[in-house]
Amino acid sequence: MKLIVTGGAGFIGSNLILHLHDNYPNVEILNIDKLTYASDLSYLEPIKQSDRYRFKKLDITDREALRDLFQKWHPDGIIHLAAESHVDNSIKGPEPFVYSNVVGTFNLLEECRLIWNQFGDDLKPQRFLHISTDEVYGTLGDEGSFSETTPYAPNSPYSASKAGSDFLVRSYHHTFGMNTVITNCSNNYGPHQHDEKLIPTVIRKALSGEPIPVYGKGENVRDWLFVENHCNALATVFFKGKTGEQYNIGGDNEWKNIELVNHICDILNQEKGEGPEGDYKNLISFVTDRPGHDYRYAVDASKIKKELGWTPSQDFDNMLRETVRWYMKKYGFNDA
Ligand SMILES: NC(=O)c1ccc[n+]([C@@H]2O[C@H](COP(=O)([O-])OP(=O)(O)OC[C@H]3O[C@@H](n4cnc5c(N)ncnc54)[C@H](O)[C@@H]3O)[C@@H](O)[C@H]2O)c1
Repeated sequence: MKLIVTGGAGFIGSNLILHLHDNYPNVEILNIDKLTYASDLSYLEPIKQSDRYRFKKLDITDREALRDLFQKWHPDGIIHLAAESHVDNSIKGPEPFVYSNVVGTFNLLEECRLIWNQFGDDLKPQRFLHISTDEVYGTLGDEGSFSETTPYAPNSPYSASKAGSDFLVRSYHHTFGMNTVITNCSNNYGPHQHDEKLIPTVIRKALSGEPIPVYGKGENVRDWLFVENHCNALATVFFKGKTGEQYNIGGDNEWKNIELVNHICDILNQEKGEGPEGDYKNLISFVTDRPGHDYRYAVDASKIKKELGWTPSQDFDNMLRETVRWYMKKYGFNDA
C-alpha cells in the first residue's frame, strides 16, 4: 500500500510515520511537508535509509506541485496532518492558517478526486484520513464532553480553520463519494513537540531558571493523550474505520493547566534535583490570559472504543515522566 502522510516532519506526523513504518510492513510511506519552523526531519533519521520511506519537501498550498506528485506517485491513501497548529500564532497572524489548513486541505481533496475518480463511480477503496482537533467544538463549562454530534463552534482562527477543513472533507464524502474519515483528538503530549507548546515550554523554562508562564490563573482544563496512543488510534481508524464517519479521540485524562504545570514541576524536582528555593513551582508566573481562551475541552471517545476497540493508555504518570526525560535530554539537562 502506498500512503502519503502530510505534515510528517511535525510532532504527531513524525511519531505516526515511525509507528506505521514499524508496525505495518506492507505500507510504503511518502512524507510531504513544507518544513515550517515547527518541523524537524531529524526525528525520522531512524528510517531515512528504509526503502519503505521517502520524503518530499512540498507546500500543500502549491496546487501544481501537488498535481505533479500525485500524478507520478498514485497514493492508495492519505493521512493528512499538515497544518499550522499553534493557537497563539493564529491570534498573532491568522492568514497562514487559512492557506495551509483550509486551502491546503482543499488542494489535497481535489488532487485525490482527480486521480481516484479515474477508477470509476463506486465508493473508492482509497482512503482520505483527515486529522482534526477537539477545539472545533468550542468550549465547555464544568460538565459534559464533546461527542461526534456536538455542533461545531470554533472560537480561535486556528480552530475555525480546522473546522473549515473538516467541513470540506465531509462534503467530499457526501458529494463525490470519497472515502473520507475525520478524527478529532484532544491535546497530545510526548516527544517531538515544538518548543512553543505548553509542556516543552514548562520544562525548558523551569530548567533554565526562567519564569514558567501560565495563562490567567491556570484554571483552563484540557484532556491529554500520549502521542503514541494517538498514532495507534489513527492507524486503527485508517485501517478499520467506517467510511464517511468521524471519530473523537481522547485520553479520559483532564487536567487544569496549573495542576499539570505543578505535576511537571514535581517530576522535575525528582528527576533533576530540586529547583529554585527547593521547588521548580517557585518559577510559575501567571501572565495575561490568551484572548478568547476556551475554558474547557473534554472528549467523549466512546464511539472509537465501542466500534473499533481502541482505548487510551491509563499510564499518564509514567508517560509524562518519559516525556519530561526526553525534553531534558533535548535541552541538554539530563546530567542529574
Ligand atoms: N498537537 C496536538 O495536540 C493536536 C491535537 C489534535 C489535533 N492536532 C492536529 O494534528 C495535526 C498535526 O499537529 P502537530 O501538533 O503535529 O503539528 P505541528 O505544528 O507539530 O506539525 C505540522 C507539520 O505540518 C507542516 N506544514 C504546515 N503547513 C504546511 C503546508 N502548507 N504544506 C506542507 N506541510 C505543512 C509543518 O512543516 C509541520 O511539519 C494538525 O492538523 C493539528 O491540527 C494536533
